[in-house]
Amino acid sequence: MKSFHIITFGCQMNEHDSERMAGMLEAEGLSEAASAEDAEVIILNTCSIREKAEQKFFSELGRLTHLKSREGKSVRIAVAGCLAQQEGAKILSRAHQVDMIIGPSDIARLPEIFAERERRSTAVIETGGDPEYHHKLVPTRRTDGLKAWVSIMYGCDNFCTYCVVPYLRGRERSRPASDIVREVKDLAARGYREVTLLGQNVNSYGRHVSDGCTFPELLRQIHDVDGIERIRFVTSHPRDLSGELIAAMRDLNKVCEALHLPAQSGSDRILAAMNRRYTAAEYLDKVRRLREAVPDIVLTTDIIVGFPGEERQDFEQTLNLLRAVGYDTLFAFKYSRRPGTAALRLGDHVPEPEKERRLEELFSLQRPVTLAKNQAHVGQTLEILVDGKSKRGVSLSGRTRGNKVVNFPGSSDRIGSLARVRITAAGPNSLTGEICE
Ligand code: 5AD
Ligand code: SF4
Repeated sequence: MKSFHIITFGCQMNEHDSERMAGMLEAEGLSEAASAEDAEVIILNTCSIREKAEQKFFSELGRLTHLKSREGKSVRIAVAGCLAQQEGAKILSRAHQVDMIIGPSDIARLPEIFAERERRSTAVIETGGDPEYHHKLVPTRRTDGLKAWVSIMYGCDNFCTYCVVPYLRGRERSRPASDIVREVKDLAARGYREVTLLGQNVNSYGRHVSDGCTFPELLRQIHDVDGIERIRFVTSHPRDLSGELIAAMRDLNKVCEALHLPAQSGSDRILAAMNRRYTAAEYLDKVRRLREAVPDIVLTTDIIVGFPGEERQDFEQTLNLLRAVGYDTLFAFKYSRRPGTAALRLGDHVPEPEKERRLEELFSLQRPVTLAKNQAHVGQTLEILVDGKSKRGVSLSGRTRGNKVVNFPGSSDRIGSLARVRITAAGPNSLTGEICE
């Protein structure tokens, strides 16, 4: 039996796409190898969001191509995902050993692409995008037995000026609600307890579907599925965070009190240049309304530092936004130029060392806030979905509804169930507690 190995870079969308590619290959009779060295088919599922991701991929590819020349073994290398879409045939000029180049909206045709490669002597490039992709139900080999990702939409129409995603994952397409609900019911029947709904901009779900189902309505339908205890979703665009969605988050008890709400900047001038279509005041107003409706919500965000034209005073407005919101966790990145994006044409690029300093300053401001937010849980009794042994191996581990990791002693027969855990201590990255009987 042939074996495969998938190396995944980037976001949860890619992780889930890798689960699907694994599912399709297993359905074709291939088995998974523990390492690339042991596999006859190697897939690199790539990311292009920042230049660093691109560099990481090319160095990994360089490391793997020598496997092709080993005697007595035929190895196929496929490059999938966003860089495959972005670079296409250009990948072959840097690494002629690559056999297949497959765009993110073409992976449902993986078995046919593999078969095509066997029929010819040159590489197969499939990046045209399958217009029916969002209707296709693909066998999926999930890495977790309790928590599952469910794609609800693909692509993005927002065209934030720094972002390459709309060019690589295409226009926004929503999956029909009936397909999504069927998938969630099937997951519940197989013992899954938590679903995370995935999309580049989940709040605008349904904008292009004929059944008229909106995102809050989709949440209600999934909420009705017996067996599913927790519902999460990523990512939300602040502009599309409607009053109706906030009300759904308040009213549907399976929808967890956690929201990743990328702000990107606290400066209105920079937000406009980024084409985000909200101001800092509008963002803060949404946060205020969210907290009114869901008081204990855990909020996280993405920030870009050093966007072209970002002056010290713009950056200080970002610091002010962080102070005003008080996020539980922050993901922050140095602006990276991406091919084809509108921001490339802007002048005033911020020097790298200055981006570095701003990034450090953001983290210095956030670090004590994250710790204080975690410590505020000490003494509380929280609902934990027990998902396994903790990394240290001596105790159990699980997550709060706010998605924070908690370690606590207990026997492994609790794995897969909900437990009430009293929080006794908190560090910067996780909480510690004890089970309340
Ligand atoms: N440079 C830096 N960060 C970026 N992001 C997206 N594009 C870029 C870029 N060109 C960040 C945004 C987004 C997150 C997924 O990645 O903050 O929310
Ligand atoms: Fe990129 Fe903006 Fe779409 Fe997010 S919403 S994927 S940042 S274009």
